[in-house]
This record gives sequence, structure tokens and C-alpha cells, in this order.
Amino acid sequence: MNSSLIFLYGPSGSGKSTLGRLLAQNLGLSFFDLDAEIEQSSGMNIPQIFTSEGETGFRKREHAELQRLSALPEGVIALGGGALLDADSRARVEANGRVLLLDASADVLAARLRNDRNQRPLLASDTDRQLAKLLARRKEHYISFPAQLNTGALTPEQAAWQAQVQLGVFRVHTSPTSSYDVRVQCGGLDELGELLQQRGLKGPIVLVSDENVAPLYARRAMHALEQAGYETHLAIIPAGETHKTMNTVTSLWQAFLTAGVERSSTIVALGGGVTSDLAGFAAATYLRGVPWVAVPTSLLSMADASLGGKTGADLPQGKNLIGAFHAPRLVLADPQVLSSLPPAELRSGMGEVVKHGVISDPELFRLCPQALTEPAAMLEEIVRRAVAVKIRVIEADPYEQGWRAVLNLGHTIGHAVELVSGFKLRHGEAVSIGLVSETRLAEHIGLAQPGLSQQISIVLSSLGLPVEIPGDLDTDQILHAMGTDKKRAGGKVRFALPVKLGEARVGVEIENLRSIYEICFGLTRP
Ligand SMILES: NC(=O)c1ccc[n+]([C@@H]2O[C@H](COP(=O)([O-])OP(=O)(O)OC[C@H]3O[C@@H](n4cnc5c(N)ncnc54)[C@H](O)[C@@H]3O)[C@@H](O)[C@H]2O)c1
Repeated sequence: MNSSLIFLYGPSGSGKSTLGRLLAQNLGLSFFDLDAEIEQSSGMNIPQIFTSEGETGFRKREHAELQRLSALPEGVIALGGGALLDADSRARVEANGRVLLLDASADVLAARLRNDRNQRPLLASDTDRQLAKLLARRKEHYISFPAQLNTGALTPEQAAWQAQVQLGVFRVHTSPTSSYDVRVQCGGLDELGELLQQRGLKGPIVLVSDENVAPLYARRAMHALEQAGYETHLAIIPAGETHKTMNTVTSLWQAFLTAGVERSSTIVALGGGVTSDLAGFAAATYLRGVPWVAVPTSLLSMADASLGGKTGADLPQGKNLIGAFHAPRLVLADPQVLSSLPPAELRSGMGEVVKHGVISDPELFRLCPQALTEPAAMLEEIVRRAVAVKIRVIEADPYEQGWRAVLNLGHTIGHAVELVSGFKLRHGEAVSIGLVSETRLAEHIGLAQPGLSQQISIVLSSLGLPVEIPGDLDTDQILHAMGTDKKRAGGKVRFALPVKLGEARVGVEIENLRSIYEICFGLTRP
């Protein structure tokens, strides 16, 4: 299945052509309207074909045209409302690409069709009645498509974005002239080679993975790359934050040398955030910059670390002190690989995901408690939604000049407790504590709706994440780690804080944190 070949299907008036054009524009793909293609190849318009050849003749032409379009490597294709009634056409389309069924209520469809100048032979007279009959006839057929989007209450722009979220296909624009694709796709690992090829990426490829992930997925990834004709080398690094060092970066540079990596070669990072930070940084600095691709395998790296182009390594003095902005050429997240992620890592990743829900997706927030109880069913949607939130933020602020600070929600306090705990708290656990504490602060200053911290706390606790600053952590050290002793922003600490579910604010200055510490962060402390 090709994630870059998208078919929009559904009844007339559901918005296939309007949305299809926008979707193609957002993703940098070509747009095709099946009816327009038929008209062009036949030299007749659709009513003329119906008059001279009847519906049977039209369907024959439609079938042939669809065969041609479904062999394309990529594109967005708006189909006619009955194009997939034919089982053979449907099987071909579903095997070659992704089908999204668009729908809306009969009233909305009828209203849209009344304003549409396109002539539709099957709805030529008494449109409303004909439409109702057609919808009744095709009801079972339409609901049999697994991916559906109701466009009734959405603007075309909103519908196009929702379609992207639903299909897990995104393009991140880092500047007016550069961009990269992000795909969230179950089983996508097997398409890795094809996806690199479509983007013109070259070998030799060095696949970088850590000692936990490599035995599980490196062979599959290498097979996919080799099937596409790439010469592939494997570089395995030790797992864990303690190895996110310049020593490991040096070992990667050496592996690149041995593999004969050139300026045009590609580095593929297969692993969690440590792997993508290190491999991305090694790629950023080798030969002054080699293209790289992120294949995140932890929830945290899918939802956060692999997106945004920040790469780097730690120094003994602190985390991420070395780094470079080096955007990947592609991010491919395959949620199926999360099945092998240790539960503690999955929970930790959920800390960031809940944060994304709080920032701008209340529906994602609502889904979060189900992440651990119904993982297979829920995780793909959770990853797609979390990725969408981060993409919106980084597109608005690719180089961290302003709005991107919203991603620091929960992190001012989170980083401090992570540090003071001596990293005994996992990053996501510390973020969970930070989210609740900072929301209490937002409530205290009258910014957040009362009760919001309680709401967030319930969801995080249901995921097994801690929500209170551990009693054995020293208050002075936490305040010190937050920088209250330094002259930060004129003696104040700046926070990103939530206002309500789906809305947050950046640059909120808080003076005299010490005096409100007990109220905001220590409510339940003995
Ligand atoms: N660049 C950014 O914008 C950014 C953003 C957030 C975090 N980060 C960085 O990300 C790192 C944390 O990422 P992480 O939590 O993914 O850490 P990680 O890479 O250490 O992965 C966590 C653990 O899970 C294992 N693992 C990963 N995927 C697996 C899978 N599918 N099956 C089995 N085991 C698997 C890893 O081997 C590791 O032991 C930190 O270094 C942090 O600084 C970077």
C-alpha cells in the first residue's frame, strides 16, 4: 500500500474535489479529478458520455481511467460517487493507496449540490429526491470503508487538515522553500525503501539503531531498503541516555567513513529519541551535513523527538548542550513497533502526548486514558493526533523564536524535578508532575479554568504517571533548578501555561515563585 497515493471517495457534494485540491497542495502532491480525466481522454463531457454510451459505457471508461491512476506512485485522486461500486476497481485502489470516504448529512449534500454548476447525469432532475434515493442505495457500500470523514461542519481547510490527521500524512514546511514529509502508518516500516526512493534519497545508507531496537527491527528495515536497491550498512549504538555522548557521535562518524558515506548519501535513524538525536546530529555535522531520515520507534520519539529538526548530544555538565537544527528528509512512524516498547517507556511517552492534548487537541486528551487499555486500537490514532499537534507548533515557529515555547508546557517544573531526582524520574514522569503543578500555578494566577489541574491529574494518574512532586525532593533545589536564583527575564521565570483544554499561552512571567511554591506545587504534601 502506498501512503502517498490518496483516493477521496464518497457521495456527490461531500467535498472530494475541493478538499482534494487543498490536500494535494498541503502535501506537495499532484491532484487528479477522475471525472475530468475521463472527459479529457474521451473528448466528451460526462453528460455526453451518458447520452451516447449510457451508464455502462461510462463505468467502463471510469474503470480504465482508474486503472491508470492507481498505478501512479503518488497523488491525490477525487473519485466519482460510484467509482468503487465495482469490486475489481475497489480492490485495486485499496491495494495501491489509501481511501478516505468523505460524507455529510443528506441536507448538507443537497445544499452543496444546489450551488454546484457541475452536471451530474444521475442527479440531473429533482436533485434532492434523486440524491436521497442514491444515498439509500449506496448506504451499505459507503459505510464499508474504514476511514471516514464527515465534512458537514468543516471549512475546506479544516477538512483537509482533518483528512491529513486521519490518514497520518503531513508535510512540515521549515521555510517557504523547504519541507519534509511525515507519515504515520501501521506497517510502514516495510515501505521504507520505497518512501526514500520517492524522495530521491541516495545510498549508501547507514541505518543507525540502538542495541535494543536493532535486534527487533533492523533486519526488516534493511530488507525494505535493499528491496528498493539501496546499499545498506548497519551501525548499532549502545542504548540509553547515558550514551547520548560525543563518544557515540564519534563512533557514528567513523561508521559513516567506513560505509563510504558521501554528501548525497542518507542516514536512517531507527530507534527512540536518543537514537534520532544522535544520528541526526552525526548527519548534521558529517561532511557539513548529510540527509537523514527518522524512523522513530518509541512513543516519545514519534510524538516529539523525531519532529522539528532538533538534533544533539549531552555533555557531562548537562543534557542537550551540543546540538544543531538539521531537519530530516522524512519521518516515518510505524505505530505497530510500539507493541515491543517496555510499558514504562510507553507510559513515559504518554506524558508528552497528554501535554499535546492539553496544548491544542481536547479529543486527543479524551482518548489518552485508553492508550494502555486498548493499545492496538488506540495508539495509531493517538500517535497521528499527537504528531499533528507538534507539526502545527513547529510550522508556526521552526527555529524556536516564540510559539514553540508552548511545547515547554509542564517542562519548567518537569525538568527541575527530573534533574533534582537525579534522573530517577523518567522524562515523561517528570513532565506529568510538571503539567499538574504548572496547571495549578495557572489556576492560582487566574489564567486557567478552576478544576483543570484536577482534570489533567486524573488522566495522567489513570496512565500510571506520578502527578505530585515526590516529598523527598528538596524545595530549594527545585527552585534553584528552575532558575529562580538567576536573573532570568529580569528576575522572573517564564512559563508556558494552559488556559483550558486545547488552549495554552507562552511567555507568562511569574515573579516570586518561592512564595507560591507550597500553594501551587505542594498542595498534597504532608
Ligand atoms: N530532538 C527533540 O526535539 C527532542 C524532543 C524530546 C525528547 N528528545 C530526546 O529524546 C530522548 C528520549 O527519547 P526516548 O524516550 O525515545 O529514549 P530512548 O531512545 O532511550 O528510548 C527509550 C528506550 O526504549 C527502547 N526502545 C525504543 N523503541 C523501542 C521499541 N519499539 N521496542 C523496544 N524497545 C524500544 C530504547 O532502546 C531505550 O532503551 C532524550 O534524550 C531527549 O532529550 C529530543
